[in-house]
Amino acid sequence: MTLDLDFVRAQFPAFNEAALQGQAFFENAGGSYTCAPVIERLMRYYTQRKVQPYGPYDASRLAGEEMDEARVRLAGIMGVDSDEVSFGPSTTQNTYVLSQAFAGFLQKDEAIVVTNQDHEANSGPWRRLAERGIEVREWKINAETGHLDPEDLDDLLDEKVRLVCFPHCSNVVGEINPVTEITARAHAAGAFVCVDGVSYAPHGIANVGELGPDIYLFSAYKTYGPHQGIMVMRRALGEALPNQGHYFNEGSLYKRFTPAGPDHAQIAASAGMADYIDSLAAHHGINGDGAARGAGVHDLMRAHEEALLQPLLDYVTAKNSVRLIGPSDAATRAPTVALASQSNAEDLAARLAEHGVMAGGGDFYAIRALEGMGVDMDKGVLRLSFTHYTSKGEMDQLLNALDEVL
Ligand SMILES: Cc1ncc(COP(=O)(O)O)c(C=O)c1O
Repeated sequence: MTLDLDFVRAQFPAFNEAALQGQAFFENAGGSYTCAPVIERLMRYYTQRKVQPYGPYDASRLAGEEMDEARVRLAGIMGVDSDEVSFGPSTTQNTYVLSQAFAGFLQKDEAIVVTNQDHEANSGPWRRLAERGIEVREWKINAETGHLDPEDLDDLLDEKVRLVCFPHCSNVVGEINPVTEITARAHAAGAFVCVDGVSYAPHGIANVGELGPDIYLFSAYKTYGPHQGIMVMRRALGEALPNQGHYFNEGSLYKRFTPAGPDHAQIAASAGMADYIDSLAAHHGINGDGAARGAGVHDLMRAHEEALLQPLLDYVTAKNSVRLIGPSDAATRAPTVALASQSNAEDLAARLAEHGVMAGGGDFYAIRALEGMGVDMDKGVLRLSFTHYTSKGEMDQLLNALDEVL
């Protein structure tokens, strides 16, 4: 079974938008287009239910029900309990709150492991725990390949380590890390695990229950949804960490790491992400529970992306003038392709824009990873990122533009 691209693209109003015609979108890792069900739910919330939720009158009751629906259905796809899912303004704010919680949980002589492959969101807030007397150990990438070797983690693990933070895949290296294997190593050493899934989720929302980490984060605005950070906090850890919310909400797991009042409308609209996955599943004959539908859609998306990605990887690896960051085998990575060259990456992106290609250049807040690979930070990297809704025609447009620009 292959992905019905016409059906997919019909779910995204951006593809019918006059102002975007002829524009091939390759900055999806920065933020994706939004699917129609999310936009419709957001509109409905703002027009029909923009009241304090969870009250006895209809507008309020429905507002609350839609917020709960988002958590319940996304939890179903991710194979976790609905109260293990919570929302925050962004993934960065979620890790910030979590780091505060760990600051109150860890003892001074204890340690955490962070990587230099991560986006700063899953790195800086944790590293700052050093100011509180926590030992911070860095799991380093290979300077040539950007690879994060699970065997290297073993050298960093001992009885002092309580937390290991790493990305499902980096937003510049793109390589998909073996979350289950890494989690098993960390758990065996008695450490909890926090995975940044932001760069992975747009390519198929993961079954977090099966993968096994204690915390899994992703950003809805890069996954066809509204501007929210979504956090899975498994119960055992969530109940052990000190509550960061109002004291009277401490008995409610999904409120413990949401110190501010949440964005009601956007949470409600996040149910549209589940609508989208379900409509893809139904259209392609994928049945079963939420997790099964999510897994089937994940595989469809990945297969389409891999088929489009390999020719791009082959093209850039054949060019002497650019250095591909991360692996050249599409099966092992997300379609988030960063390229270093002798040219300034922002200039290259500006030149691509002249050819109707929307891409970006810079460091993408993955400064530690790029520096770890010896990239000239004055030039940065050109990043070409796409998703399952990207067409072969858009890939051709990109390759033709790269011919002119590189
Ligand atoms: C891999 C990765 N992690 C975390 C983030 C931060 O997400 P947010 O903007 O929701 O804080 C980003 C954003 O670009 C990212 O690419």
